[in-house]
Amino acid sequence: MTQIDVHLTPDHAARSLREDVRAGLTADPKWLPPKWFYDARGSELFEQITRLPEYYPTRAEREILLARAGEIAAITKAHTLVELGSGSSEKTRLLLDGLRDFGTLTTFVPLDVSEVALRDAADAINADYPALAVHGVVGDFTAHLDKLPGDPPRIVAFLGGTIGNLLPAERETFYASVRDVLEPGEWLLLGTDLVKDPATLVAAYDDSAGVTAEFNRNVLRVINRQLGADFDVDAFSHVAVWDAENEWIEMHLRADRALRVLIPEIHLEIDFAEGEELSTEISAKFQRHTVQAELEKAGFTDAAWWTDSKARFALSLWQAV
Ligand code: AVJ
Repeated sequence: MTQIDVHLTPDHAARSLREDVRAGLTADPKWLPPKWFYDARGSELFEQITRLPEYYPTRAEREILLARAGEIAAITKAHTLVELGSGSSEKTRLLLDGLRDFGTLTTFVPLDVSEVALRDAADAINADYPALAVHGVVGDFTAHLDKLPGDPPRIVAFLGGTIGNLLPAERETFYASVRDVLEPGEWLLLGTDLVKDPATLVAAYDDSAGVTAEFNRNVLRVINRQLGADFDVDAFSHVAVWDAENEWIEMHLRADRALRVLIPEIHLEIDFAEGEELSTEISAKFQRHTVQAELEKAGFTDAAWWTDSKARFALSLWQAV
């Protein structure tokens, strides 16, 4: 059985893109939020990134899930798995298999901003897990957490290291709102990439095949298509830097020459100086004690901390107090 609740209208997405582009491109320094990378092409480019030799997080997290799904089921005895930003379902299946084999799982709740991606994922899971009720939610995980269905105990999974795309203050709000929708005793499963040597980190975000560069520039294509803008996409270079103080990778697009961009749909004209950089993503990297402190502050207690064999990535389990 599949049911989809839509809390985000196409109109909402269009409006929020306009607001973000106006706010970010009129700011100094200029910025754009990373969520606009992911149109069909951007999602495909991200899939390619996950297969690059330099981009280890996906493989590292998969290794942990493969080893620990059974333990996660035995500890949580979850009846409902909620997956935030469900995206591709391969890692989800590892979790679903572990929970199903343990025998407590009845409901899967994927939440995603893309209705098309969500319906495809829900249908595919439904076909392969016929005993499971699939109750999808089209929504934004920073805004629609109060709408989560499913019977307790629930486990909310936020995988892939996507938490790293939020700024520290946004992270705090996010953890608090997850804690808010959970009853005491329910669970959060969190994937976090870990601090490591800068060369490894930078290579993961500046691969030799140039896929991440294309992914980065894709946000300009999205704005060209959605808002009628005339970004000369090829005039921007991909930059990935490690910010040691904030412990995050920051991706930029650097204008190789001075240019003026017209964005007719929002009546905006934006000038770039030669060499000017537009910030498009931060991807924070974590240490165990910082994750622990933030989760405890939000009202969780630690249940488990697992890393891959090379200690590059962590999957951690938290229980609502
Ligand atoms: C999917 C958000 C976890 O931050 O590593 C990959 C996105 N950006 N390469 C990340 C991304 C550049 C990715 N997340």
